[in-house]
Parts: sequence; C-alpha cells; structure tokens
Amino acid sequence: MLSNDTDLFIKNFIVLEGLDGSGTTTQASRIAGLFGQAGLVYEITAEPTKRPEGVLIRKILGGEIESEPETLAYLFAADRHQHLYGHGGILEQCAKGKIVLCDRYALSSLAYQGMACGNDLPAILNAGFPAPQLTLFFRIRPETAMRRVSSRSQLEIFEKLAAQQKIALKYDEVLEAARAKGWKIVEIDAERDIQSVTDQIVAALRGIGIPLS
Ligand code: TYD
Repeated sequence: MLSNDTDLFIKNFIVLEGLDGSGTTTQASRIAGLFGQAGLVYEITAEPTKRPEGVLIRKILGGEIESEPETLAYLFAADRHQHLYGHGGILEQCAKGKIVLCDRYALSSLAYQGMACGNDLPAILNAGFPAPQLTLFFRIRPETAMRRVSSRSQLEIFEKLAAQQKIALKYDEVLEAARAKGWKIVEIDAERDIQSVTDQIVAALRGIGIPLS
C-alpha cells in the first residue's frame, strides 16, 4: 500500500531503486555531474540517511547490532519520515525548486522488509509516504547483482543470492502495486555498461522536462 492520491506527487523528487549492486549509487553521482554541468540546482541524497537514524540502520545491516526484521522496518520508516518532513528535508528542498535525487525510498522497504518480515507491516508503515515525480527502477538479474557486490570487503545482511532472488520477486509485486496507485516508474536496463545506463536515465529525466543535454 502506498499513497493513494494519484494526482499528488512531489515535484522535482526523483528516486532510484533496484537490487544491491544494480548501480544506483554510481549513477547518482554521474547524474549529479550532469545536473551541475547543466547549471541545475540539485541535491543528491540516499536512504538509509547519514542522520543518527540511518547510522543505526547501517550498524544493523552490517551485522554489528542485532535486530528483529520488524524493528528494522520501523527504523527505515522513521528515517524516511525525518528525511522527507524534517527541517531541510526533501519536501523543503523540492518546494524551493531544487531537484532532489534520492538513492532508494519507500519501494525499497516494501521489497526488502516485505521479504524479511512479510508485506503487512511495511505496507502500513509506508502507506502515507507521497509519490516521487519519477522512480527509476534499475533492473538487473540477482546473479549479476551478487557478482557486482561480492567484490566488496564486507557484505551486508541482504547481500546474499537467495535474499536478492526473493527481493527481486518482491520488487515486481511492489512495482505493479505502485503503478496501480499512479506512481510514475521507468525501468532502466542496468545490465548494460555504465554509460548506456546513464544515457537511459538522461532520456527518462528529459521525459519529465529536466533540461539535460
Ligand atoms: P544501499 O545504500 O543501496 O547499499 P550499499 O550502500 O551497501 O551499496 O542500501 C543499503 C541496504 O539497505 C540495501 O541492502 C537495501 C536496504 N534497504 C532496505 O532494506 N530497506 C529500505 O527501506 C532501504 C532504503 C534500504
């Protein structure tokens, strides 16, 4: 369940979603470079955030602190609430006309926590979060995703092939439900090389009127 008001989305708010290793973080910094070159006013952000809520989440993801999956679902929702509505948060930045590009948002909770603790709690916790203007879903096979993350020195709790396979299936459910609620979602073929992924993103951003050359 997601915000139901199909006419309501946060203008200038763009979200990147996908499995671990799908390349959202790499692409966010490339897109930042293009926004800068185009003279656009923008901010690149991510969930979990760098605030104390997000730092606590990172410790759980890294296995340093133990947590029930439900606790993690609450923490992600709390982090998101503050990120969106807090002082200097996403709503405030977008209202000023800034383009806010966020690496992950509510669909991550519906997919990852949906896998970890069932759909009900994540659906309730995320029902009220408004839709972004555009969500870019980076589609990649779980096997490719795992191949990319396996070179990292320390893997987080969801970075296992079996988990990524289940999360990929959850994402498919979640994308369908979000589209049915009026969320605008464009799929990016994230199996392709870095530049061609950037090109696909640029085309999607132009499609909502962002003036990139
Ligand atoms: P991410 O920053 O994409 O991973 P990394 O920096 O390690 O490449 O995301 C961190 C992890 O948090 C990722 O496995 C997805 C997970 N996550 C959730 O489970 N629920 C959420 O709501 C969000 C935002 C992320």
